[in-house]
Amino acid sequence: MAIDRAGVAAGFARLGVGEGAALLMHSSLKSFGWVDGGADAVIDGILDALGPAGTLLVPTLTGHRELSPQNPPRIDLRTAPCWTGRIPETLRRRPDAVRSLHPTHSCAALGAQAEPLTRDHHRSPTPCGVTSPYFRLAAAGGFIVMAGCTLSSCTTCHTVEELANVGYHLQTETAFASCIDRHGDLVETPCLLHSYAGPERDFLVLEPLLLEQGLMRIGTVGESTVRIIDAMGLIETALDRLRFDPYYLTVLRGKGQ
Ligand SMILES: CC(C)(COP(=O)(O)OP(=O)(O)OC[C@H]1O[C@@H](n2cnc3c(N)ncnc32)[C@H](O)[C@@H]1OP(=O)(O)O)[C@@H](O)C(=O)NCCC(=O)NCCS
Repeated sequence: MAIDRAGVAAGFARLGVGEGAALLMHSSLKSFGWVDGGADAVIDGILDALGPAGTLLVPTLTGHRELSPQNPPRIDLRTAPCWTGRIPETLRRRPDAVRSLHPTHSCAALGAQAEPLTRDHHRSPTPCGVTSPYFRLAAAGGFIVMAGCTLSSCTTCHTVEELANVGYHLQTETAFASCIDRHGDLVETPCLLHSYAGPERDFLVLEPLLLEQGLMRIGTVGESTVRIIDAMGLIETALDRLRFDPYYLTVLRGKGQ
């Protein structure tokens, strides 16, 4: 059965998404079943559930494995498409969306806290650090939503890797990247880039821990399985484990590497 904007709003409200919340949503549009109105109906339905004080962020990632200090990203954030799906791509194109200034890990946001949650991303020396929207959302008491996808796609787990300084997550030399911002100005954005050489990730290991602690709830909206996670709870839970095993979030967990 199809779902529409009102159904999306009701579904998220049923899952406890309240007025004024801040959400960072990773998503699969297809997972909802047929949506009358497509990606826009999902976005508007969630905004309806959040009300005027709420904020919806989406990851609008643009990085790829060919990037390096020798081949640094140069990106126009007014036009650069993201590879994180139809919903983020639709949201970032809206005239009132604010996109954070980062050459690989930008987020786009709509709503009351869109500006404060996206500001200063270019000042973060690492993609998901404390001035990134990923950490700011957590610090603001926000929630991560995985709609039709799992923790495997959770970019905030990279925030955890950066805070724990795990050693495998980033390239070691600074890349002198640059971005064109929403005003058309060129901004130099030196940063450490994601390393694709690191061990395979296994972020799913966090799911039972988060459920046990009441930091994650799972329900459905339309046909989509939706996970809603306390963002700071995820960061703290994962950091606790990484203190004992820096490879906890990878397939090398427990192998004493
Ligand atoms: C990869 C991923 C985006 C694929 O999901 P998907 O649902 O197949 O793709 P999208 O969300 O882009 O939605 C487009 C699809 O929705 C479907 N679709 C189109 N209109 C639709 C509608 N009105 N209603 C429902 N589905 C519709 C189509 O199948 C379309 O695919 P097509 O263009 O190939 O025909 C998803 O599985 C995922 O991983 N999401 C998280 C990504 C992320 O945040 N990564 C961060 C990494 S750190």
